[in-house]
Amino acid sequence: MKRLEGKSALITGSARGIGRSFAEAYVREGARVAIADIAIERARATANEIGPAAYAVEMDVTRQASIDAAIATCVKEAGGLDILVNNAALFDLAPIVEITRESYEKLFSINVAGTLFTLQATAKQMIAQGRGGKIINMASQAGRRGEALVGVYCATKAAVISLTQSAGLNLIKHGINVNAIAPGVVDGEHWDGVDALFAKYENRPRGEKKRLVGAEVPFGRMGTAEDLTGMAVFLASQESNYIVAQTYNVDGGNWMS
Ligand SMILES: NC(=O)c1ccc[n+]([C@@H]2O[C@H](COP(=O)([O-])OP(=O)(O)OC[C@H]3O[C@@H](n4cnc5c(N)ncnc54)[C@H](O)[C@@H]3O)[C@@H](O)[C@H]2O)c1
Repeated sequence: MKRLEGKSALITGSARGIGRSFAEAYVREGARVAIADIAIERARATANEIGPAAYAVEMDVTRQASIDAAIATCVKEAGGLDILVNNAALFDLAPIVEITRESYEKLFSINVAGTLFTLQATAKQMIAQGRGGKIINMASQAGRRGEALVGVYCATKAAVISLTQSAGLNLIKHGINVNAIAPGVVDGEHWDGVDALFAKYENRPRGEKKRLVGAEVPFGRMGTAEDLTGMAVFLASQESNYIVAQTYNVDGGNWMS
């Protein structure tokens, strides 16, 4: 029996990376999945590659009208909305004295406001449907503690963990489970960009930071997007019904809490 048979899922930022792997896993488990991304051409290509159970939706999580339109599309395409993954996010890096207001506002508007208001609009839809639902927020090990060069991103992910707790407590009475996943270091295009920023600020050759962080993981290597799909399917399935307001580390042993 497939674990997400007949479910309708929306994954923000799923044109590539971790969100894309989650979409593939959800489709394997029987769900219909909206590949919702600001990069609409890439989202279309991804949906085509995944197959007919996936469909592309243009979505900018920083704009309320775009959030509402994306949810309306899911309802029309798949008869409702049962699972949301708040996955879209942006990274930046700078020493404290070089952080700009522009970077701060951009990261908070995507990573925090985008998560909160997509969660809110989805919860309204789920409450109206009256059949509960599953909301999964993408946090990070960066949200568990500060990092010298990663002040703003760490703060956004700490906020995601906090919002997961509040929303989880507030929405469980509607049968809506809100939980989060905190990955460690996951290889892919995102970390290629992170590596380039560390190369600049720590004066390293490209690729060195990636090798170092991978070697430091107790498991012995960086994670892959596929390493996270087990938790993503579990939190979207009925098996996690009694789990409320939690953030799970899936990071090869990097953090314990
Ligand atoms: N890769 C890692 O090492 C790592 C570690 C911890 C947490 N995470 C978190 O996991 C999630 C996915 O990470 P990833 O590595 O796949 O990232 P990624 O950068 O590869 O993908 C992010 C996606 O979000 C989309 N996006 C950006 N702005 C958007 C907006 N305003 N509206 C809609 N979509 C938008 C991008 O187009 C892209 O497709 C993020 O929340 C990230 O913070 C990643």
